[in-house]
Amino acid sequence: MHIEATTQAPTDTGADTVAVPVFDGEGVAHDFEDGFLGSLVERGEAKTSIGSVAVTHGGDLRFIIYGLGKRDDLTPEKARRAAAAVETKARSLGCATLCIEIPHHADDATVEGLVEGMALSAHRWDTRKGNDPERREPAAEVMFSDHDDRTVPVARGILLAAAQNRARDLQNSPPNEMTPDALAARAAEIAELSEHATLETLDRAQLIAAGCGAFAAVAQGTDREPRMIVLKWNPPGVTAEPLALVGKAVTFDSGGISIKPSVGMEGMKFDMSGGAAVLEATAAIIELNVQVPVISVVGATENLLSGSAMRPSDIVTASDGTTIEIDNTDAEGRLVLADCLVKAKAEGAKRIVDLATLTGAMDIALGPAYAGLFSNNDEWAATLMAASDGSGEPLWRMPLHPSYRKMIEGVYADIRNTASKRVAGASTAAEFLHHFAGDEIPWAHLDIAGVADDVDLPYAKKGGAGFGVRLLVTLAESLAA
Ligand code: BES
Ligand code: ZN
Ligand code: ZN
Repeated sequence: MHIEATTQAPTDTGADTVAVPVFDGEGVAHDFEDGFLGSLVERGEAKTSIGSVAVTHGGDLRFIIYGLGKRDDLTPEKARRAAAAVETKARSLGCATLCIEIPHHADDATVEGLVEGMALSAHRWDTRKGNDPERREPAAEVMFSDHDDRTVPVARGILLAAAQNRARDLQNSPPNEMTPDALAARAAEIAELSEHATLETLDRAQLIAAGCGAFAAVAQGTDREPRMIVLKWNPPGVTAEPLALVGKAVTFDSGGISIKPSVGMEGMKFDMSGGAAVLEATAAIIELNVQVPVISVVGATENLLSGSAMRPSDIVTASDGTTIEIDNTDAEGRLVLADCLVKAKAEGAKRIVDLATLTGAMDIALGPAYAGLFSNNDEWAATLMAASDGSGEPLWRMPLHPSYRKMIEGVYADIRNTASKRVAGASTAAEFLHHFAGDEIPWAHLDIAGVADDVDLPYAKKGGAGFGVRLLVTLAESLAA
């Protein structure tokens, strides 16, 4: 799908389909011959609520009247949903060129939301299916029309949606292909985007040599080489302090010896969603030339079973010297992230945010509506909340607490990788990470287990959702100096 801004009137663009906005209680701004679009609204055939679309024809043109709700209540997220409804309808009709009329007085964030909703909704996850006679391709050409030049917000919406869609591609790819090595190869492409970007990757031997015993323990059950991916963006002459983005990228989580039930196990290809978001957000940050140094650390490995797999009751040593009892080999994400957090600090991070599909407990608590936010610093948590408001990816603050910390005290080692009691699973997991993040610098952990895939949003119904890409870019922008 090629998207561009235009100042041509929608009916002059040559598009086969024109999408016209309507707000509650308002008429159609640019009506067609004798006001026949407005009359559809008056008769209630075309509705004004978000997600409503009505199709009609006039001349040799097709019109889609799309609802934007109450003008004063319009948000970028509502714009995303409204545009996704237009895209879904246009696709089902087989439209090839589409022109969307931007409502009068729309601010940049609204325009961006419309573009993102369009591009995200058009993203396909079923491209490997054979010939399906029912299948329709998204429109090849999409124009966003306004009286004023909206090139800037349209370009930004395109860039952010493209990054999010790339993260979704990484997520949706099967785990026999989307291996740690494949993620490292993608990181290498991203590092090529700028002379100010660099890449270092650590393989199994290098992880062991660096003392990353927690990460290496997870990787020891698979023949595939793990990769700790360290991708840096260092724009010259900036004064902002380095931001670390840390991502869990378990490319398949079988649970290991503490094996998962087979029902639903296929969904564990999405256990690399945090890493996917970190990589593609970093790419967008570089493309946008955001003036903040970024240290992205992605822990990529499989969690499988074999004769060499780690066992419950093993004791391993992380790169900061902490000894860890493995109680449950399915609590592998926190082991991988432990060494990644230590690495981020060693590389000079002055604030950290990590993204991980860390616990089933998080999914059960909040479902797809919010990712859980845990932080050792209220100001940093507020900064993340502000970025979340800006990007439209909701976060809900969840608690850390010394009593949760107590539950992961080790019996034979410093700490254990699962709590002594089966309570507050998302918080005890966060406390495990907190041990490695420490309290010296602001750190936030986003448990994205519930929001990573199959979230049933109008613009991301099935498969990987790319959660966190827009959020991390917005966060980095808010820190630029
Ligand atoms: N990858 C899972 C968490 C997960 C579960 C993500 C469901 C998405 C949907 C993680 O590695 C895991 O298995 N966690 C365990 C921890 C437990 C053993 C303490 C869990 O949540 O059951
Ligand atoms: Zn697991
Ligand atoms: Zn996992």
